[in-house]
Amino acid sequence: MLVTEKNAMTEEIEQLVEKYGSKRSSLLSILQDIQRKHKYIPDFAQQEVARLLDIHPVEVFSVISFYAFLNTKPKGKNIIRLCQTISCDMQGKSAVAKSIERELGIKFGETSKDNKFTLEYANCVGMCDQGPAMIINERVYYKLTPEKAIEILNGLK
Ligand code: FES
Repeated sequence: MLVTEKNAMTEEIEQLVEKYGSKRSSLLSILQDIQRKHKYIPDFAQQEVARLLDIHPVEVFSVISFYAFLNTKPKGKNIIRLCQTISCDMQGKSAVAKSIERELGIKFGETSKDNKFTLEYANCVGMCDQGPAMIINERVYYKLTPEKAIEILNGLK
């Protein structure tokens, strides 16, 4: 079973290398496609990308770590990113953060057991004068209060 999975992943990456080319400059496009399909980039995929592009696995890992939209672990269906930068912080981010944690029963950096929610902090999302702000999946929410944040979460449940 495991062997079949490995072969499927290798095959998939071979096709991506064919599509984008085996140069180092193809790395990001290949990783984005893997992320899009699997929602994260498993360890084995990282090794295979490194092998097929003939680069060091550390290089693959450092690119994944650099980009917030690439993940090495599976995440929830809804990724909640609350801005932690100073303007939002001063406009009540902590109270919003606490109410979200309480509502979902998880802390920032965690994913709910049902894989519905991942909670993360983000840096400035460009809504500084209308904070606190958060992004859920691709959508930005601003002027949050603890109550408004819960309402938004309830809409996603
Ligand atoms: S500081 Fe939060 S959006 Fe800029």
